[in-house]
Amino acid sequence: MKGLILSGGKGTRLRPLTFTRAKQLIPIANKPNLFYVVENLAEAGITDIGVIISPETGQEIRSALGDGGRWKVRFSFIVQEAPLGLAHAVKTAAAFLGRDPFVMYLGDNLLSGGIRHLVQEYSRGQADSIVLLTPVDNPGQFGVAELDGEGKVVRLMEKPKDPPSNLALVGIYLFSPAVHEVIETLQPSWRGEYEITDAIQGLIDRGLRVSAKQVSGWWKDTGKPEDLLEANRLVLSQIARDIRGELSGSEVAGEVVVEAGARIVRSEVRGPAHIAAGALIEDAYVGPYTSIGRDAKVVRSEIEYSIVLDGTALQNLPRRIDASVIGQGVLVDGRAEGPKQSTLRLVLGDQSQVML
Ligand code: G1P
Repeated sequence: MKGLILSGGKGTRLRPLTFTRAKQLIPIANKPNLFYVVENLAEAGITDIGVIISPETGQEIRSALGDGGRWKVRFSFIVQEAPLGLAHAVKTAAAFLGRDPFVMYLGDNLLSGGIRHLVQEYSRGQADSIVLLTPVDNPGQFGVAELDGEGKVVRLMEKPKDPPSNLALVGIYLFSPAVHEVIETLQPSWRGEYEITDAIQGLIDRGLRVSAKQVSGWWKDTGKPEDLLEANRLVLSQIARDIRGELSGSEVAGEVVVEAGARIVRSEVRGPAHIAAGALIEDAYVGPYTSIGRDAKVVRSEIEYSIVLDGTALQNLPRRIDASVIGQGVLVDGRAEGPKQSTLRLVLGDQSQVML
């Protein structure tokens, strides 16, 4: 069985973070989302992995993944010239996939527990496709499945205005090569894309066996900033305490990772939290569900339920930062100097958001 990771797209809903970085490389608990995807595939014994990339962010994805040696897998990078949909991505990868069955995994999805059980189930040969479903509050923003009384999928719709259920299609799919024949017959949807949802519907219409499993743990697709925070919370809720950095005069409680080279000085850290190498936490408070990136600083400030990327400095802040995602190399300083103490000085990139 082969793997196909989709790692193209423009990430418009994650601007400004995606002006400078592919959305799949945004770190969750200080590790790019895409790395969790590769780990899941490798754990399931899938070593031959195609990676769909876009002309815009492809180079960055290639250099982040490298040759795959660190996961003992092999990558084939495949450029999709235009974002014409998930089924179009499969078509673009047709030569790589050949007649092998494959797992398609969207590079911005995260699934607790991995996919080993799914790959095992597929290998029993009972289905031409396995899809994963999970209940969501906003089904209109996903592919949605309608099941019959026995739990069999009868209909799939992409982002329906009037969803027939609250069961969203998770961005992880297992396919036999029969899907290629169906994709050849697809027409673009109302949003101008060749939808994988329509391809799966095509399998059902041809009488092929599509089996739907409900996700047992959690699943997240990190399309929007609040999804990143939620994904960060979910990943951090599974970490175990591991202190390798330096603590002095500090109280570090619960499941906290402090990487070697990080320093916690006269501060309080309440887990779960992840502090990357080179970070400095000084006279500060870092609360639950927070990730602090490499070489970042939190000095005389308080923060919780947030993600801070590499090299960013938060200092002298008069109020606690909460539910925030702060990009790389940012400076937020609460100490105004000189006569204009009642003013705010901001140098913000395009589409930044500041809530004061
Ligand atoms: C895609 C699929 C959709 C699925 C979702 C999961 O949506 O088209 O069926 O529910 O991924 O992440 P998109 O990310 O293109 O909006």
